[in-house]
Amino acid sequence: MAPGGLFGTAAVAAVVSLAVHVALNCPIQPVPSRPPPAARYTPNNLLQGLEKLGEGRLIKPEDVYVDAAAGGTLYTATRDGWLQRMHPNNGSWEQWRFVGGTGLLGIAPSADGSMLVCDADKGLLRVEEDRVTILASTVDGAQIRFADAAIETSDGTVYFSDASTRFGFDEWFLGYLESRPTGRLLKYDPRTGKASVALDNLDFANGVALSRDEAFLIVCESAAYRCLKLWLKGDKTFQTETFVGDLPGSPDNIHRAADGSFWIALIQLRSPWLDLVNRWTLTKRIVASFPALLDRIKATAKGAMVAHVSEDGEIIRVLDDSQGKVINFITSVSEFDGDLYFGSLSANFVGKLSLAKVPQVQEAVSS
Ligand SMILES: *[C@@H]1O[C@H](CO)[C@@H](O)[C@H](O)[C@H]1NC(C)=O
Repeated sequence: MAPGGLFGTAAVAAVVSLAVHVALNCPIQPVPSRPPPAARYTPNNLLQGLEKLGEGRLIKPEDVYVDAAAGGTLYTATRDGWLQRMHPNNGSWEQWRFVGGTGLLGIAPSADGSMLVCDADKGLLRVEEDRVTILASTVDGAQIRFADAAIETSDGTVYFSDASTRFGFDEWFLGYLESRPTGRLLKYDPRTGKASVALDNLDFANGVALSRDEAFLIVCESAAYRCLKLWLKGDKTFQTETFVGDLPGSPDNIHRAADGSFWIALIQLRSPWLDLVNRWTLTKRIVASFPALLDRIKATAKGAMVAHVSEDGEIIRVLDDSQGKVINFITSVSEFDGDLYFGSLSANFVGKLSLAKVPQVQEAVSS
């Protein structure tokens, strides 16, 4: 046999074994990704000026909630299963309530003084002084796989997001690569004790927030670079429309500020490598079939970004740490008393930045 023939045989053998490996091991059934928005922001790296709170004791604090009524007590949930809080008067941290597990994500206050917690693996929880109650772990008879963020309305109804029906929190990146919009907005009714589906087919359902007058709710769709508005009152009740779209990142948690505007954490899931993988469903399938390769590709996406958005959905300003030098992968941002607080799934602290350090007016989007 000629050397060229040998080479050809080896190449065919390699392709066949790759095809067999992918056929046997690929955990996803991908569809094409949505094209990312064309608009680009000039990096300002303003987030690099932040201060680190609780550094070393907070393992990947995903969400942050500031209790204004308690003078700014700051709450977060960490990967060791604790709800932790910081007292504003002396800056000391306290392990406040133990829930357990590694999947504690969104936290939100309840009118009765308890805390609502989304446990990605267990569902919607109510955490009280001496007990943890599962409010909803199933909907329509099926397990909730990825409870993500919650908000309570003044009548006691709790809206919460379920990011994906296909993959849980530990496998969120597979769900992202697969790109099937299976996320949902769920609604827990305390009167019946049951959860129901308010919206489905969401493209990775994530943060939820209410407008000041509770006329509408916002739910973010990370993989669609947008947040939706669901009307709860008025003649458009139960209709949806885009609240803000073409965001320069994938929206994660959203929190309302005292003036009625919103802060949205924007995960940065772009890199030349990731963009390349996302171009074809075949490359997605190949990468998803090799866990080590998947981790390498995931790690190429760096940076942190947050956006301040008006009550009408206009982007007011964007702050970033474009290469993730000080903070990476911000998943939550809350404003309280002139400061911003940041949660992150790649940090061991909560970030704090005074808005006095941030210019008020910024250049808008440049295409
Ligand atoms: C900080 O303040 C809180 C609330 O006032 C108090 O319970 C706690 O003991 C204080 N911690 C320290 C270390 O002073």
